[in-house]
Amino acid sequence: NVFLFADRLMNQTMKTEGGSDTAKRHAGERAADAVEDGTVVGLGTGSTAAYAIEAIGQAVADGLDVRAIPTSFQSRQLALEYDIPLTTLDAVDGVDLAIDGADQVVDDPESAAHGALIKGGGGAHAREKLVDAAADRFLVVADPSKLTTDLDRSVPLEVLPDAHTVVAERVRELDGEPTLRDAEHKDGPVVTDNGNLLLDCEFGAVADPDALATALASIPGVVEHGLFVGLADETYVGTADGVDVRT
Ligand code: 5RP
Repeated sequence: NVFLFADRLMNQTMKTEGGSDTAKRHAGERAADAVEDGTVVGLGTGSTAAYAIEAIGQAVADGLDVRAIPTSFQSRQLALEYDIPLTTLDAVDGVDLAIDGADQVVDDPESAAHGALIKGGGGAHAREKLVDAAADRFLVVADPSKLTTDLDRSVPLEVLPDAHTVVAERVRELDGEPTLRDAEHKDGPVVTDNGNLLLDCEFGAVADPDALATALASIPGVVEHGLFVGLADETYVGTADGVDVRT
């Protein structure tokens, strides 16, 4: 199951480049320019982060000295493919920079939620949050379709397998509608890199992401939720011909 899931993620990154893929590539490549010699870098998951990993791989081939911490099986495989030296969180004193994608980003400087994210479309948000939160600087890479004024996509929860029904009940008490994520071509649920299950939870437009994040984190059996509040330092938004940096 883990391998099927990784396969699905890899396929996601290997689609033919179209309009939004050009934007993703611009965002990923520009963010990779922020990786400095001698640093520890967190490698995010997904098709946009994959462009950053590819660009970091090219820089490593040209002599850049980095140690990288992947956030998923997929990003680890890509890093191995590009000969990027790998390390782990417990082997380093800190993470200098993390580069990661997002499913939605609040882009509204007037809003208290500006810069809040929904992540976990690839089911990797638990390790992503661990690494992104540990980083001194966390850059989000996105195409313009990810920008929003309200977070209104479903919020992924990684849950212990035994907990999925009781967590689903608690989500309903918070006025959410949970769905167990299914593997596309197989009977049975998606299993994460950590051996857990995923509940995708519809809350409509989330008025207060911070409050929802606190409520979700307090449910026993929730390993991690996909709301990233107050973590992102900058968002690199790729466009057809360049990158807009949002702070
Ligand atoms: C994986 C993630 C991804 O970063 C998010 O789904 C964005 O992916 P993509 O860049 O392919 O649109 O959170 O868990």
